[in-house]
Amino acid sequence: MRSAGIVGLGMAVPQRVLTNADLEKMVDTSDQWILERTGIRERRVAGEDETSSTLGAAAAREALESAGLDPLDVDLIVCATTSPDMLFPSTACLVQHQLGCVRAAAFDLSAACSGFAYGLAVTSQLVASGAFRNALLIGVDVLTKFLDWTDRSTCVLFGDGAGAVVLAPVESGRGLLGFDLGADGSGADLLTIPGGAGKHPISEESLREKLRYIRMDGQQVFRFAVRVMGESAARAVEKCGLTPDDVDWFVPHQANIRIIDSATRRLGIDPARVYVNVDRYGNTSAASIPIALYEAYHSGCLKEDDTVVTVGFGAGLTWASCVLVWTMPPAGRQNRQSAAAAEGVGAR
Ligand code: ACO
Repeated sequence: MRSAGIVGLGMAVPQRVLTNADLEKMVDTSDQWILERTGIRERRVAGEDETSSTLGAAAAREALESAGLDPLDVDLIVCATTSPDMLFPSTACLVQHQLGCVRAAAFDLSAACSGFAYGLAVTSQLVASGAFRNALLIGVDVLTKFLDWTDRSTCVLFGDGAGAVVLAPVESGRGLLGFDLGADGSGADLLTIPGGAGKHPISEESLREKLRYIRMDGQQVFRFAVRVMGESAARAVEKCGLTPDDVDWFVPHQANIRIIDSATRRLGIDPARVYVNVDRYGNTSAASIPIALYEAYHSGCLKEDDTVVTVGFGAGLTWASCVLVWTMPPAGRQNRQSAAAAEGVGAR
């Protein structure tokens, strides 16, 4: 099999910024509590007209442009999301139409916050096998539309956004080297949006019981995340015949700075090699890893031939880690978002 690597990158976030100070006016919380417990300072919130398909299409458009591809060059669109525009059709089909990628097959992938890393493993295989040549992989979520804004234990954590990559054949030994995917359905109840689908359809009762909102056992999810992130990333690195010392950049799912710090310690990676932007976006679910990759690349941290490890965890419960050799040459141009990224915190 040939290899598949990232040859294009894009991101899109809503304009509206919601700060911790704004949240102090909405629920009984404080900037200090949110910052100390999560590392989040602000997040983006989608407007009425901004959905997974519109944000996903904007990120994908930029990814195609940076890869120098036309919409007609795209053979496959995979959209990782758990906050689709509708139960069906898939968000990938809506993006296909918005972009005019009329030749592309399209489907959604549901693995919550692990969705992008799951998608990177799966989509890369489809490209490496020769089944598809140019694939768009989008990670997008608008979980603020599923938040109970009176529940301080969840509403301070999430933000909206989209990130997209183009995957295409690259020379062997570069691109995706290996991955580790896993799931534990016995933890399904720990993090869920129970209403609005087959089990609890929309009804007066389900609305009264607030079943359309995110429910989470924060402490259990925290314990799971800390354990699984380090273990899964270590397994993926080992499967590639590498050690943590070989890793140039660790780009984890951005849910909580304490989870990231614990996983970093467990994996034995130098904290200076960890990319962090949770402070500016909160937990954007399936979008967090591609947004972090985008900012790490455009701020000059990620360089061609760097070995990068990404790891996600989330509802399901699910987890996914990927090891890749970065295949994009230095960015030729800086757009508004990347210029902002360059000024941002990022690497520590
Ligand atoms: N502001 C102020 N106080 C709060 C807030 C808030 N926003 N939220 C909870 N508290 C209070 C609690 O009521 C509790 O008060 P008490 O001691 O009087 O009972 C106290 O703070 C401590 O609460 P804990 O839940 O123990 O706080 P913890 O340190 O565990 O932090 C947090 C909570 C941030 C939610 C943490 O558990 C966490 O990050 N969990 C993982 C969540 C996560 O990453 N989920 C996304 C997974 S990805 C996906 O698939 C969507």
